[in-house]
Amino acid sequence: MHSFRYVDGSLKCEGVDLNTLASEVGTPAYVYSSETIRSNYRRLDLALSPLGDRMICYAMKANGNLSVLNLLAKEGAGFDIVSGGELFKVLKAGGRADRCTFAGVGKTAGEIDYALRQGIYSFNVESEEELEMINAVAAKAGLIAPIAVRVNPDVDAPTHKYISTGKSKNKFGIGLDRAAAVYERAASLPHLKIRGLQTHIGSQILKAPPFAEAVGKLTPLVLELKAKHGLEFFSIGGGVGIVYHGALSSGDSAWWKGSDENGVETKVERLAPEAYAAEVIEPLRALGLRILFEPGRFIVGNAGVLLTSVLYRKSTPTKNFVIVDAGMNDLIRPALYEGYHEIEPLLQPPSEQLEKVDVVGPVCESGDFFAQDREMPVLAPGDRVALMSSGAYGFVMSSTYNARPLLPEILVEGETSTLVRERQSWEDLIRGERLP
Ligand code: LLP
Repeated sequence: MHSFRYVDGSLKCEGVDLNTLASEVGTPAYVYSSETIRSNYRRLDLALSPLGDRMICYAMKANGNLSVLNLLAKEGAGFDIVSGGELFKVLKAGGRADRCTFAGVGKTAGEIDYALRQGIYSFNVESEEELEMINAVAAKAGLIAPIAVRVNPDVDAPTHKYISTGKSKNKFGIGLDRAAAVYERAASLPHLKIRGLQTHIGSQILKAPPFAEAVGKLTPLVLELKAKHGLEFFSIGGGVGIVYHGALSSGDSAWWKGSDENGVETKVERLAPEAYAAEVIEPLRALGLRILFEPGRFIVGNAGVLLTSVLYRKSTPTKNFVIVDAGMNDLIRPALYEGYHEIEPLLQPPSEQLEKVDVVGPVCESGDFFAQDREMPVLAPGDRVALMSSGAYGFVMSSTYNARPLLPEILVEGETSTLVRERQSWEDLIRGERLP
């Protein structure tokens, strides 16, 4: 479900006209729909409700705007964090540390100390050295650190190679073969309390069976640890994918016509939260533990768009370029993962004529593109478009490369739009810099 649709030829986010909004705040700009975020969260939570004791820890790395965090905290979400900075933001947004899990392979002593003093629910430990470090920091602080070990189930989940994490060749987690021994070690360390076991197989996964496979592979270990060390929770991580192709038409059907990486029309299947839940609920319920989920993209991905304006057109003997005012520094997914984002005009053009174009940004890199050889409505300078499904891993991965200020973020709620992050100024760009 999402709340972007055309009404009388203009694209709306809930009750807000995006072209009017773009005139007010300028482009490029990120816009998020509160309704979409809330309904994604509620729908997933409802699908998982047969589990009883559960906690959805939103993976805030996907979108860490304070207002998004605040909205989800009010829904009752916990948070999956990966740095001290993320915990700081959760607390500023009204979230609770005792509903946060702390993941990541490189937690510093300072971050561990901060999270421990704030009362974090669990450190998800990624290596044996980190286990020793957490114990040492806790000893120094005179506190007991709750931990879970991130166990790598060696499951192959079909996704882009940069976002697959559950194979043994990835840097994440501890192998199944070592896990029991690491728990033994944890049990012997006086400043640790074993709280759970965590796993995560990757991101943008569109099929449910790999999740069930991971649960199946870990079940004997989880039951053994529960008996031995009194495990309290099992976290299955995040990774539920969304549909990028046909993003606007997707609505809520189980599948729709989209196009594959080569632009060939194909049937795209959505991993509905209910289908995901149906696959994992029974094996998870059988564990008799609190179950944690760490969705990021599923909650916010289709809840955000990046608005951008056409600056120029340019043709070479082989290409037609449409140059827009957003760049790879603002949305890096196409450049980094060949990520596909639907591009929709804010005002539907009167003619149905299509042309094949590359939509590119102003950054001085050939990788600075949003679409290549894509059939698009004919666009002219001044026209505005939305890069759809940019709510996850959009703004959070942006940078000021080419001295381009960070973009504003706007949160829509019904008919109301609120500027929840200001556009950076050139002065902001040099804040903190000094001449020698
Ligand atoms: N839990 C852990 C331990 C993770 O590493 C991640 C994502 C998540 C949860 C949330 O995964 P999600 O539900 O969002 O798939 N920048 C990439 C995605 C990187 C994902 C990193 N880890 C992209 O734009 O596709």
